[in-house]
Amino acid sequence: MIRDLPVYGNLILAPLSGYNDWPFRRLCREFGAALVYTGLLSAQGILYGSQRTHEMLAFHADERPLVCQLFGGEVDTLLAAAQVVVAAGADVLDVNLGCPEPKVTKKGYGAALLKDPAQIGRIFARLTRAVPLPVTAKIRLGWDAASRNYLEVARAMEENGAALIAVHGRTADQFYLGEADWDAIAEVKQAVSVPVLASGDVRCVADIARIQAHTGCDGVMIGRAAVGNPWIFGLRDRDAVPLAERVSVMLRHLRDMVDEAGAYHGLVCFRKHLSEYLRRAGLPRHLRAEMTNCDDLDRLIALLEQTALSVSSIKPVGDL
Ligand SMILES: Cc1cc2nc3c(=O)[nH]c(=O)nc-3n(C[C@H](O)[C@H](O)[C@H](O)COP(=O)(O)O)c2cc1C
Repeated sequence: MIRDLPVYGNLILAPLSGYNDWPFRRLCREFGAALVYTGLLSAQGILYGSQRTHEMLAFHADERPLVCQLFGGEVDTLLAAAQVVVAAGADVLDVNLGCPEPKVTKKGYGAALLKDPAQIGRIFARLTRAVPLPVTAKIRLGWDAASRNYLEVARAMEENGAALIAVHGRTADQFYLGEADWDAIAEVKQAVSVPVLASGDVRCVADIARIQAHTGCDGVMIGRAAVGNPWIFGLRDRDAVPLAERVSVMLRHLRDMVDEAGAYHGLVCFRKHLSEYLRRAGLPRHLRAEMTNCDDLDRLIALLEQTALSVSSIKPVGDL
């Protein structure tokens, strides 16, 4: 449960800006993700109301329950943007307290807010009183190695009504380098009574049980390992998925992206997933390169269809 919202399962698609559009979120839900996040959306941008933001707030029934993640730092702005998110149909409002990108932190947003737990407390006090949805946050362990204040931050959130805390086990200045610190995530789980999600370095199905056992967390977020690999939510490693099956999912994903974003943008966005779908697929290097660089939708579909046909016509040795 996230406050009064039931969540049927404990595998969660992490927020992944630039990847987590609706076709990908829906695919992950279909393959077994119990809950999906949007990538971070600017609270100011939502109020400004650009066409792009409007598109990113187009939520669909088949992806719910859905967490919409905002970034910002001024309570009034976050509150006003939250009303738009509520009207758009999100189930949970999440505040980003972990983005390390300078374009976000230089304004004092994202992971920069970790430097000011009192402000985090004020944000949660206002949001949790005014917003009718559960309000949550995704944090990092601190700004840098000298300021790992995750327990202080987690307590400030819980005391001010947060419904769940997701913890990425790195500091902001680590970006994505080094190993995620699962011990620290376990400390957060011990310190608070609201649900805690663990994030960082789940690369395969076996890692899911490992991180759960290590941290005792209530749910596991899967980020980079879900790209080109929605099967992980069904506890299947991509390497175990036959290529023809992979290709049929890729074709569907591609078509959904094109329906959603148009031929050009749909293809460009899909190509980010494509190289991951093809990882260790055993395709000749030139074919893989042609696919991942292809900017002609019909050609890419033809290449994928041919690949599916050629692999399904090769019978496994045991069937001969
Ligand atoms: C390309 C990319 C985009 C990300 N975007 C977001 C984001 O919008 N919001 C957020 O809280 N975390 C974001 N993250 C962090 C992930 O949610 C996750 O915590 C991190 O990648 C570690 O988990 P993993 O090892 O499963 O990928 C992003 C990570 C990557 C690699």
